[in-house]
Amino acid sequence: MIGRLVVIGLGLIGGSFAKGVRESGVCREVVGVDLDPQSRQLAVELGVVDRCEEDLALACQGADVIQLAVPILAMEKLLALLARMDLGQAVLTDVGSAKGNVVRAAQEAFAGMPARFVPGHPIAGSEQSGVEASNAQLFRRHKVILTPLEQTDPDALDLVDRLWRELGADVEHMQVERHDEVLAATSHLPHLLAFGLVDSLAKRSENLDIFRYAAGGFRDFTRIAGSDPVMWHDIFLANREAVLRTLDTFRNDLDALRDAVDAGDGHQLLGVFTRARVAREHFGKILARRAYVDAMNSNDLIFLANPGGRLSGRIRVPGDKSISHRSIMLGSLAEGTTEVEGFLEGEDALATLQAFRDMGVVIEGPHHGRVTIHGVGLHGLKPAPGPIYLGNSGTSMRLLSGLLAAQSFDSTLTGDLSLSKRPMNRVANPLREMGAVIETAAEGRPPMVIRGGHKLKGLAYTLPMASAQVKSCLLLAGLYADGKTTVTEPAPTRDHTERMLRGFGYSVNVDGATASVESGGKLKATHIEVPADISSAAFFLVAASIAEGSELVLEHVGINPTRTGVIDILRLMGADIRLENQREVGGEPVADLHVRAAKLKGIEIPEELVPLAIDEFPVLFVAAACAEGRTVLRGAEELRVKESDRIQVMADGLLTLGVKCEPTPDGIIIDGGQIGGGEVHGHGDHRIAMAFSVASLRANAPIRIHDCANVATSFPNFLALCAQVGIRVAQEAQS
Ligand code: S3P
Repeated sequence: MIGRLVVIGLGLIGGSFAKGVRESGVCREVVGVDLDPQSRQLAVELGVVDRCEEDLALACQGADVIQLAVPILAMEKLLALLARMDLGQAVLTDVGSAKGNVVRAAQEAFAGMPARFVPGHPIAGSEQSGVEASNAQLFRRHKVILTPLEQTDPDALDLVDRLWRELGADVEHMQVERHDEVLAATSHLPHLLAFGLVDSLAKRSENLDIFRYAAGGFRDFTRIAGSDPVMWHDIFLANREAVLRTLDTFRNDLDALRDAVDAGDGHQLLGVFTRARVAREHFGKILARRAYVDAMNSNDLIFLANPGGRLSGRIRVPGDKSISHRSIMLGSLAEGTTEVEGFLEGEDALATLQAFRDMGVVIEGPHHGRVTIHGVGLHGLKPAPGPIYLGNSGTSMRLLSGLLAAQSFDSTLTGDLSLSKRPMNRVANPLREMGAVIETAAEGRPPMVIRGGHKLKGLAYTLPMASAQVKSCLLLAGLYADGKTTVTEPAPTRDHTERMLRGFGYSVNVDGATASVESGGKLKATHIEVPADISSAAFFLVAASIAEGSELVLEHVGINPTRTGVIDILRLMGADIRLENQREVGGEPVADLHVRAAKLKGIEIPEELVPLAIDEFPVLFVAAACAEGRTVLRGAEELRVKESDRIQVMADGLLTLGVKCEPTPDGIIIDGGQIGGGEVHGHGDHRIAMAFSVASLRANAPIRIHDCANVATSFPNFLALCAQVGIRVAQEAQS
């Protein structure tokens, strides 16, 4: 609660601030000051302020907070006047769109920056202006940037911060210089361009025609040229240096575009346009708070799964994640244009796609699963402009690390909370043996900093664990290493990299458990058809098996023998799964999977099937919970280092649902029985969230699953397909 707030300058921003604070009830009295008598009168009539004063000194007497909301170029004069008054303990703050000049003016006027002056800038406004447009809600969910200095009094800062939050604003603190740079680029430059474009067109003799035929693009682009010219003239004068810097950078980029048009360089144009388009979409998500960056940390997306149900129908689950990743990687490194169909538009594969865009590859799409990659050849990648963010995707990070270790430039790979906990030494160590220079955080965790410019040499490596990611990473590094790179695996793992390299015309030698490549070859662009992902199909294989009376067909599913462990395990448990219409598409076998409900029984899972079903265990545990008798899994310690510790997390959830089970260091023992309802956690792991959704089919009460946002990493339309076939799971309405 404060006593008196004085707002100097009753325009849209000052008026809205005054009105908002007044209505919030945190201030006993709001006093307005304005040079214009009509504004003063209106401010009182409209309830913007309690009263107005013409005289500045009189108004400021006894003020607790003084908000300076005059045009930015008037700030200097106002500060000089205030400096001559006795302001007591009043806190000063302002709303100027540039901060450097306000701070300089204050320093001059007060002979040093007053500790109780908190510079600020609300990023809000409208085309309307004047006190009559005052709106107490104007700042709700808008950013307000405060730019305190070293000497700023923390109590004063806290008070101003709290006032803005009272109005519903998101307050951030930033350095003065950074504020001015950021705003020059994101606000001032676009306004300059809009004003400039409209003026440039309007000056031409044919302007009537131009405006008559102006399409939506012109209207959209130039909307902000309707803003207040005087205010904007002030801003450009006030933020001169930062605006000049950003304008010069833009001028260079514009020249490059001009050159591309001049030279008929469609590749360059497509590159700029596709990158811009995704960047725009990404910003849109960030602004709508939907970006995957924060999805896992702050949004608890809850799935509510209601008990019972019977599945029927024919569906096609989305494209294979492993193959989608590899299609982007190899397509980018190929010579020529690769067309991909059936690409998984999930966040993991999109992270890989974005990484290659960041490294200068022109990629069109994805659009309905179609992606066109304009390959740059094995030596055509360019350094990304900053760290490459890979979200939740371990596959992206591990495979990319091999590729990037051989480039001439440095790269940094980062990821979300879950990925940042995952072990990377399994790739970093053998890569180092090949001559790579890689830094990681403690215990080999991300971020990974990969130094470029180091020649790799071939390596004969025996994998300590059955991991297709490590194998693929080393084979990709091997494309660049001197001599031969040979990887031997302790048990068969998915071989999509080997198959796809061959599909791109690159020779890979496979001899039993050993795969090898030699450098010096080329990848030739090709056409890739991505089959539906058996790892996604697995949820429905289990669902239709456990829900009495179900019959379901899953179309066009990849049945690469290194991936079909889930079918083998379910069949051993008594499942009724038939493979129909078997065929080969682009080097990968596919089939339609026909599944009918069956009585399942517990089994000892053969250890050799573990790597062939490594991603399917969460839902296989659900099958085990529905089976008669005991299921025992051993030799699956790798499950502890997936997107979550899948042994522990599944055991916790199953126990909550009343299922008898016991985690062991390398597996789990599950006794089948009745599944109950309850609250379980997805732990940001897509497959955990989906597995518990499936469990509801045999539960006797609803299951609420927390932390499900990452389902979008591999299976963006999971809920829609569940609804289509009869699984009663939906996103719980957010309050
Ligand atoms: C993958 C390999 C597996 C799997 C992951 C995808 C791949 O990981 O769990 O989802 O595309 O190579 P590991 O190689 O670590 O077992």
